[in-house]
Amino acid sequence: MRTVHTIRELRALINSHRQNGHRIGLVPTMGNLHDGHISLVEKARQHADVVVTSIFVNPIQFGAGEDLDNYPRTMREDQEKLEQAGNHIVFAPSVEEIYPHGLVEQTQITVPVVSEGHCGASRPGHFNGVSTVVTMLFNMVQPDVAFFGQKDFQQLAVIRKMADDLFMPVEIVGAPTVRDEDGLARSSRNGYLTENERLIAPVLYKTLQQTAANIQDGQTNFAELEKEAAETLTKAGFRPDYVNIAHSLTLKPAKPGDDDITILAAAFLGKTRLIDNLSVYR
Ligand code: PAF
Repeated sequence: MRTVHTIRELRALINSHRQNGHRIGLVPTMGNLHDGHISLVEKARQHADVVVTSIFVNPIQFGAGEDLDNYPRTMREDQEKLEQAGNHIVFAPSVEEIYPHGLVEQTQITVPVVSEGHCGASRPGHFNGVSTVVTMLFNMVQPDVAFFGQKDFQQLAVIRKMADDLFMPVEIVGAPTVRDEDGLARSSRNGYLTENERLIAPVLYKTLQQTAANIQDGQTNFAELEKEAAETLTKAGFRPDYVNIAHSLTLKPAKPGDDDITILAAAFLGKTRLIDNLSVYR
């Protein structure tokens, strides 16, 4: 496995693989890798000859007062995990390498509508930051296929829309959320939880499961179901940011007749903001 830190080195490596007719897969990450990321690398190995994993904590997708400075950076452990998973190239650039002209003047990509609700409403500018850096990574790596976790359901929807609208020659593949045994979705931010918060955290997924069961049972008063779910989370010790029942493709509020619905939720447990989602097919 090779680790490179500059775009020049990355391009030279990728070019040699391209000349050999290799199919390139990209797994964009911010590092602090867990089993969810490793499942993306494993999936990438099934779809591509060469797997490039990027590790870059992207400053422009963090808002003021968010956890940019404290975001866990665990390069050595990440490299070991990637090596074991059969990853081929690690691209780990500095902030200056990606944003040589500074952050303020950086051209940005906006994906309207789908970026706007849910996490986009609570974290203004977040999805512009994600869309921008993912576009830049696509331009640097020029992957045939790129992999994203379904845990970040809205992020995946935004990236799919962006790639489609801008005719980006890359296939976007989503991979299922990897969970701990008690149902908690794997996330780099789980490491922020105290012992007691970690015990409470699975209630988020259990609440989504209960809401999904109610929808499966034919309940269609979605506003009421969202309210009930938020109350359950509050009683368990969360501070809910949102619980939204949405159409799975448009992410607009679901209508009673919709047959492809996703429940999306974000909630704070102490200082940690957890997100999760669950799709319901009727
Ligand atoms: O999901 C993430 O880790 C990030 O949002 C991504 C896609 C790597 C962009 O920085």
